[in-house]
This record gives sequence, structure tokens and C-alpha cells, in this order.
Amino acid sequence: MVDFRVVQQFYGRWARYYDLLADSSLVGPWRERVVESLALEPGDVVVEMGCGTGVNFPRLRNRVGPSGTVIGVDLTRGMLAEARERVGRAGWSNVHLLQGDATRPPITTGVDAVLGTFVVGLFDDPASVIDGWLDLLAPGGRLAVLEAGPSDRPIATPLNLAFRAFTRLSAPSSRRNAVSPAVALDERIRVAFDRIDARTAETIRDTLGLGFVRLSAGRRP
Ligand SMILES: C[S@@+](CC[C@H](N)C(=O)[O-])C[C@H]1O[C@@H](n2cnc3c(N)ncnc32)[C@H](O)[C@@H]1O
Repeated sequence: MVDFRVVQQFYGRWARYYDLLADSSLVGPWRERVVESLALEPGDVVVEMGCGTGVNFPRLRNRVGPSGTVIGVDLTRGMLAEARERVGRAGWSNVHLLQGDATRPPITTGVDAVLGTFVVGLFDDPASVIDGWLDLLAPGGRLAVLEAGPSDRPIATPLNLAFRAFTRLSAPSSRRNAVSPAVALDERIRVAFDRIDARTAETIRDTLGLGFVRLSAGRRP
């Protein structure tokens, strides 16, 4: 079971340094790709679950424009404080932040798009979380998920060792004590992506970053 206090303590501790990697030029193209897969249009309402410090906000805000709405949901006050600073610096009046649980989203239905990046792998029951996110969408709305997991490409074999160590260190302690956090993460991503495949139309799957980064997106029929 995920202990929310552990998640909040972990991300709260790292919030001030989080963007050093998360907002780096390594991760930027993957973020660009997943936001593109939402096919946002000016005026759309998009919800980002587990938005963290809001690294995706500039891309989301650019696409929905001043007439659209971006809503970021996160459990961790420290991450939301960083996100709030980002919003304030940019002067966006249509980017809103909510402290809440993405597995029971504090959002009413009928939104145009839902995004989750590097968060689904934290959930115990990713299939039901995906169901909940799809249920928030208006018919025709899009869901996109980006996750990092172990790579199955032969060229990545040596890097998988480094990835396993990174997964262990970068996971909240409740996850770190699992037998193999990387194997458990891989399984949660697989379950989430299978659910997106099963429940969406025009489904996209993509693999980026030598196979370490996986994208799944689709449209609610
Ligand atoms: C690895 S960070 C990803 C942040 C951001 N999505 C990104 O791409 O940089 C995971 C984030 O998910 C948040 N989180 C974890 N479990 C959550 C939950 N049940 N509800 C809402 N946010 C959650 C954490 O507080 C943290 O900010």
C-alpha cells in the first residue's frame, strides 16, 4: 500500500531540486512529445495529475492559450509551492493548482484532456486510476501518460543497472523496500498501458530514450 505521507515527505524534501533533472534538456523532448499526443486546441481544459513543480505547464499553456484552462493536481505541498512560483513568474491567470489525490481526482467530469507524467508508476492499482482518469474526459477527450521504466533493448543492458539504482534511490521509501522496485515499476506501467489500449481509440504507443521512456495516449470513444 502506498503511504501518502511517505510520498509527501519524499517529494517535499526534493521539491527545490526537482527541476534540475526534471526540467533538463534530456527530458524536454519527451515532455514535448507527450503533450503533442494530447492534440490540445486553444480553449481546451487540460488536467495534469501529479503535476509536481509544473514542468509541463509552459507546454500545456502554450497549446490551450489564454482562453483555455490548465489544472495541476498534486499531493505534495512543497511541489505545489514550486509550481505556484512558476505560475506566478509567468503571470498565467488560467493555470490553477489543487492539492489532492490523483487516484481520487478532485475534478468534475467533462475535461478535454488528462496528462500524467512519471506518476502512474507510483500507484498500487494503476488500471483503476486510468479508469478514473478516462471517466473525467468528455467523449472525444484525450489521455496521455509518460513513464520511465527499465529498457528491453540489448543496447541498454549496461544502463539498466544504473536505471535500477536510480529507481531505488528516487522512489519513496515504501517503494524502495520492495524486492525489485524496477520490476514492480515495469509491471505497473504495463498494466496502465494495457488499460489505455483497452479503453481508448486512436491509441498511440511510443518508446523514447533508448527504451527507458514509454508513452501511451488515446482518445475516449
Ligand atoms: C516523479 S514526480 C512527477 C512530477 C511531474 N509530473 C513531472 O513530470 O515532473 C511525481 C509527483 O506525483 C505526486 N504524487 C504522487 N502520488 C500522488 C497522488 N496519489 N496524487 C497526486 N499526486 C501524487 C508527487 O507529489 C510528485 O509531485
